[in-house]
Amino acid sequence: MATAEHRSSQTSPADLPPNVITLPQTAQLEALYTIIRDKDTKRGDFIFYTDRIIRLLVEEGLNHLPVVPKSVVTPTGETYDGVGFKGRICGVSILRAGEAMEAGLREVCRSVRIGKILIQRDEETAEAKLFYSKLPDDIANRYVLLLDPMLATGGSAIKAVEVLQQAGVPEERIIFINLVAAPEGIHAFCSKHPTTRVITGWIDRGLNDKAYIIPGLGDFGERRYTC
Ligand code: URA
Repeated sequence: MATAEHRSSQTSPADLPPNVITLPQTAQLEALYTIIRDKDTKRGDFIFYTDRIIRLLVEEGLNHLPVVPKSVVTPTGETYDGVGFKGRICGVSILRAGEAMEAGLREVCRSVRIGKILIQRDEETAEAKLFYSKLPDDIANRYVLLLDPMLATGGSAIKAVEVLQQAGVPEERIIFINLVAAPEGIHAFCSKHPTTRVITGWIDRGLNDKAYIIPGLGDFGERRYTC
């Protein structure tokens, strides 16, 4: 019978750059992934189960924020010496698929500010090109949870971190959260941004010749937004 930690994903932690963190590869997590990978899963279930995984990812992302000592007085009149978050955060979604992760962040961080970045492939140069960005004006003073569900070649995520750096956010203050990653994307991203933490739910085998992650789950945006 399969139990927690029952299987590891294709890329073992030993092969991973030190800034990459995967969710614990439990049987429950794999069951959620099996549902969302199934081509016959209906849109409603796809949304429900991807939301469950996104919630786990956001919680894990928050585990990597620094804390400072904080003391409070409890209703018993005793002092409790605990901790509080050190800085403020915001979310930035990479359009359009990343928008699907915004609700998961809002569920956990009430009234969190969220920016957006649109990056597309330049057909002439084949490079990731920035088309649009709207970021909170004080983003340089915040920790950023960067949201994009699929890390394939890494081109968009690498460009998004550059956009954030230009807005004054040091790369070590960015936490990149994604559902499924290809080893190619992980290595490309981490060689450019070695101090940005990458929180991923599952690392797949690789990419096909159309740059889709395999086995993957297909086109995330299509499955999430198209009936
Ligand atoms: N984007 C997707 O939606 N799916 C992939 O497999 C890769 C990128």
